[in-house]
Amino acid sequence: MKSKLVDNQPQEVTNYLEIDPKEQDAVECVNEIFNTPLKGSYNWDYTVVDDRIKKLYELGKKLNWNVSDDLDWSQTHPKNEFLVNQDFRLVPDEIVGLDELTMEQRLEMDRHQVSWNLSQFLHGEQGALLVASQLVSCAPTFNAKMYAASQTFDEARHVEGFNRYLKEKIGFQYPATKGLKSLMDKILTDERWDLKFIGMQIIIEGLALAAFNNMKFILNDGLLKQLLHYVIRDEARHVTFGVNYLEDYLKTLSKSEIEDRAQFAFEACVVMRNRLISGEVISRFLDYTPEEAQEIAANTAQGQNFRVLLFTKIVPNLKRIGLLTDKVAPQYEKLGVLSYAELEDNFDIDWADMSKPYETQEEIEKAISGGHP
Ligand SMILES: [Fe+2]
Ligand SMILES: [Fe+2]
Repeated sequence: MKSKLVDNQPQEVTNYLEIDPKEQDAVECVNEIFNTPLKGSYNWDYTVVDDRIKKLYELGKKLNWNVSDDLDWSQTHPKNEFLVNQDFRLVPDEIVGLDELTMEQRLEMDRHQVSWNLSQFLHGEQGALLVASQLVSCAPTFNAKMYAASQTFDEARHVEGFNRYLKEKIGFQYPATKGLKSLMDKILTDERWDLKFIGMQIIIEGLALAAFNNMKFILNDGLLKQLLHYVIRDEARHVTFGVNYLEDYLKTLSKSEIEDRAQFAFEACVVMRNRLISGEVISRFLDYTPEEAQEIAANTAQGQNFRVLLFTKIVPNLKRIGLLTDKVAPQYEKLGVLSYAELEDNFDIDWADMSKPYETQEEIEKAISGGHP
């Protein structure tokens, strides 16, 4: 296998159809190096406290699903049908020209939009995989190390699932947005383990949870909905772990250390809020530059609602762990998301709900159409 070192992720769209995976010489390993001053620790006290983290670890083991066997990959959504329900199409009405496209072009654009979104999910999942593996080393307590190990395997499955869908069902993949990439760089290379926790378990995963739920609701493809549903169940566990673990730890920090983390969390939120609007796809099909399309999309009522919706999980969790300080609260107010602080956080665990067996595709479909995405 060939290996190539790069300074940043290649910015072109990867077309899988041009690569024959049977030919090993055709596969190139493209690596970008990051250095991390990770401070790891052994834990020599093997007394296992039977706490919530241990219970979450047990659940993680019990609920291992298999991307290869538990999803029916023989299903392929018909090429002449939209992947996204057109009542919820991802292009805002303010973008003009969509109606002039041929049906073929509109179907192609639909594929590109789903690909762009799933590509962001895929890269975010790789980030989560790398961070979770760091947490095994640097989380201080025994149960947290064990939990992080089980999360690492969950994240591997998520990378596998999104990658497989993109490869087999769509055929091409987009690079990560600058915002997502820079946040992953920051989290992976910071030496403070709790900052990794805040960045990954609360911000990136909280946002992913809202984005996955939204995506699951607007899709037409049963296979992709099922994949997202299974990933969502894992992510809910990860966010719950983050909130439960951080709440106690952050109380031990000084006021200035807390403000430092609160400011980091806010900045991470700002970086991520533009993550799920793609000017790039619109500019491929319509007469806009990516920046123009991004700007219009971000400022429409639909775009703003969507960005705000992404904070429904993050804000109550930040409040719960003590990072919605008086100093940063006005900044969230400016983003229009402070009212979410009153929503339910992920601290209290509905064990029965979290432990239920994985639903079938039909059950997932029924729950979505019943208004319970
Ligand atoms: Fe994940
Ligand atoms: Fe996760």
